[in-house]
Amino acid sequence: MDAELILERCDDLATITSTPGKLTRVHLSDEHRAANDMVAGWMADAGLSTWQDAAGNQCGRREGREPGLPALLLGSHIDTVPDAGRYDGMLGVLLAIGVAARLREVELPFALEVVAFSDEEGTRFGNALLGSRALAGTWDDEWWNLADDDGVTLFEAFGDFGLDPARLPGAFRRPDELVGYLEAHIEQGPILEDADRRLAVVTSIAGARRLELEMTGKAGHAGGARFEQRRDALVGASEVVVAIERISKRRGVLGTVGRIEVQPGGVNVVPGRVEFSLDLRAEFDEDRDQALGEILDEARAIAARRGLGFHHRELYRADATACDLDLRAALEAGIRATGDEDPPAFWSRAGHDGMAVSAVTPVGMLFVRCRGGVSHHPDEAVRKSDVAAALDAFEAAVRHLAAGR
Ligand code: GLV
Ligand code: MN
Ligand code: MN
Repeated sequence: MDAELILERCDDLATITSTPGKLTRVHLSDEHRAANDMVAGWMADAGLSTWQDAAGNQCGRREGREPGLPALLLGSHIDTVPDAGRYDGMLGVLLAIGVAARLREVELPFALEVVAFSDEEGTRFGNALLGSRALAGTWDDEWWNLADDDGVTLFEAFGDFGLDPARLPGAFRRPDELVGYLEAHIEQGPILEDADRRLAVVTSIAGARRLELEMTGKAGHAGGARFEQRRDALVGASEVVVAIERISKRRGVLGTVGRIEVQPGGVNVVPGRVEFSLDLRAEFDEDRDQALGEILDEARAIAARRGLGFHHRELYRADATACDLDLRAALEAGIRATGDEDPPAFWSRAGHDGMAVSAVTPVGMLFVRCRGGVSHHPDEAVRKSDVAAALDAFEAAVRHLAAGR
């Protein structure tokens, strides 16, 4: 098992897409099924027995020195954002399988499991981490009513995928079944590249909230309505978008409006309704929540001034997650084994499955440098030598944990 094979497999997975020429693979789609099948084959090659769990996560397991021991879980996700890169999530799954392959003949004091989570990004249903929250048993039955852009509910999508919503609890794992969770992931930021370093230990994962915002005004003829009479929802929403950037910068949080939909959407029609998204994240939940309060106050004030209606609905919330100190130490030892005496450590601005898994077992994360810090974009790239170092460090971290038990 080497970096070349891992990168080849990332290329193979990237061929499974719903948008030819781009990479888009969403939860419970035909592409999800094909990716699970491909990953299951590689898991089997690494000596794991495989199954798809009741939430559509692809899993593999090998026993430790005796059958039935609690498992060390390694993994990441195989769903993507629209027009994605090929490493966000997938690299972590393939590194995990690579570690399992390397340790195939090694007796371990725990079982080793690899999981390819079905939904981390939330691209299809707006609510992220559905796969890992199922595994962690933190499922909320209200999510069954979430609908995708075609109006298909999560409940219906489960059925279409051949899963039975009533059996979902079968995916839940208990703390006593698990030793911990380790995930390798591209950094998705420029810190490692700027510092000319390959790998880092993650200290904590940023908390995030995602909302759907809506401005309502009155549609009308572009030539008919005088400006004083207009209640233009898009101009109001635009003011809110700019306010989000201003407030986020001042408060040191990360606020993004990534999607906006204008109705009725005619070139000669004053916009009557605008739906737009807000993704807000920060190292500390309190900073994020205070920023959100200010954004919502400002949006209400803008709406009132313009005679518009303003509504918001929260789609997703995950609080900041601290990585476990023992798992951090194991990853640090793993990186040291690759010749880096003083591994960098910093918090993750991106969300990860570990946020959900931490509800049921301690989590640790290894970051791998990516080119320019670019992610959620087809230009995502990693160096083969960094992937080789990550595989060595990940394997060494698991060996370190095994030696300590
Ligand atoms: C996941 O990639 C996220 O941070 O939104
Ligand atoms: Mn992502
Ligand atoms: Mn990811």
